Amino acid sequence: MSSRRVIGSEHIEEAFRKGRLTLEILPGDIVTALAKESAQNRGIKLVDGPIEKPAVRKTDGGTALYRGLTRRSPKWVAPKSSTPRNVRRLSKLALIGAGGVGGNIAHLAANADMADEIVLIDIVPGMAESTALDLMHASGITRSKTRLYGGTDLALVADADVVVVTAGKARSPGMTRADLISINRRVIRSAAEAIKIHAPNAIVIVVTNPLDEMTTEMLAATEFPRERVLGMAGTLDSSRFRNALAEAAGVYPNDVEAITLGSHGDEMVPITSLAKIKGRSVSAFLSDEVIQDCAQKAIHGGGAVVALKKTGSATLAPAHSSIELIDHIRGARTGSVPVSVELQGEYGINGLVLGVSCHLGKSGLVAIDQLKLTAEETSALHAAADAIRQRLAG
Ligand code: LAC
Repeated sequence: MSSRRVIGSEHIEEAFRKGRLTLEILPGDIVTALAKESAQNRGIKLVDGPIEKPAVRKTDGGTALYRGLTRRSPKWVAPKSSTPRNVRRLSKLALIGAGGVGGNIAHLAANADMADEIVLIDIVPGMAESTALDLMHASGITRSKTRLYGGTDLALVADADVVVVTAGKARSPGMTRADLISINRRVIRSAAEAIKIHAPNAIVIVVTNPLDEMTTEMLAATEFPRERVLGMAGTLDSSRFRNALAEAAGVYPNDVEAITLGSHGDEMVPITSLAKIKGRSVSAFLSDEVIQDCAQKAIHGGGAVVALKKTGSATLAPAHSSIELIDHIRGARTGSVPVSVELQGEYGINGLVLGVSCHLGKSGLVAIDQLKLTAEETSALHAAADAIRQRLAG
């Protein structure tokens, strides 16, 4: 008996009613012209099948027996504990810069009770102290045990185990991040000097823009090993990319796995070849054009916030993204995460800070994952490195 199917417009309508974005077409299926037209009108992508389904997970005898006894599906596995073991509490988190990003990092970190103490430092008198006091006032409700204080003196970083640097000028509409290079370089140098003297064992997370260049400055000025100087950009850009893909595909961000590498700027490299929705390649759900549009939304996400806000840049997503790095450092999150670090030959790039996929731990960078990228993505990564090198030289 032949299993060839004739796919007519009624199949498309049914898929549309069920809210599907794709319809699998098996070899030998006949798709009527009307069905093709309806698919286009309804925005349903006809995907050549068979689409590889996730393999049944191999498992131990105990799980197999449990599946049988409890009539679970053959794919069922015991859920992993959502709280990783060995989560470390920081003794001191120092934030240099208590503006929008620094203040929100303090808020999120205090709420998560992740440090014994958080110090905020800002050159604007009263700014750091007021945020610290404000958050302490909330502790009667949040019951957070974290103690916060603030001041203008950079020596307050003393003995911090993690220092996040957000200080510096933010963009105004029309500016690129690179326009901030000379002004923010001075800010980074004075922060680095204080960190080097007062918190010589700290892991430093740089958030100040232009990110890759400022991380390079921090690395040079502190003379810390590359393991302890990390630039926060990839977590933010990847989050923006995942959000754009989720919106385009009509799924939740939790269903999307996608990262960006390269620079935190126009030469950002959203890795579309490895991007997945519900475990399957994004191209099963979205056209190339839509995927490229999502990549552009990641590249220009920061600029979009600046254009709306007019008086500064994004604060909330950058704060969450910084917390993500701290969580990886303290063992609250596992797996790899995009971070700007100095490359020492990885991807054929040497002596330059660039966003790559990293494993972090209590001493900072643990290992860099060299992902299998397409030739196009690899050359985009090299182009990003060249652009950063030129800006640093200029
Ligand atoms: C942004 C800034 C923080 O991307 O670089 O929003």
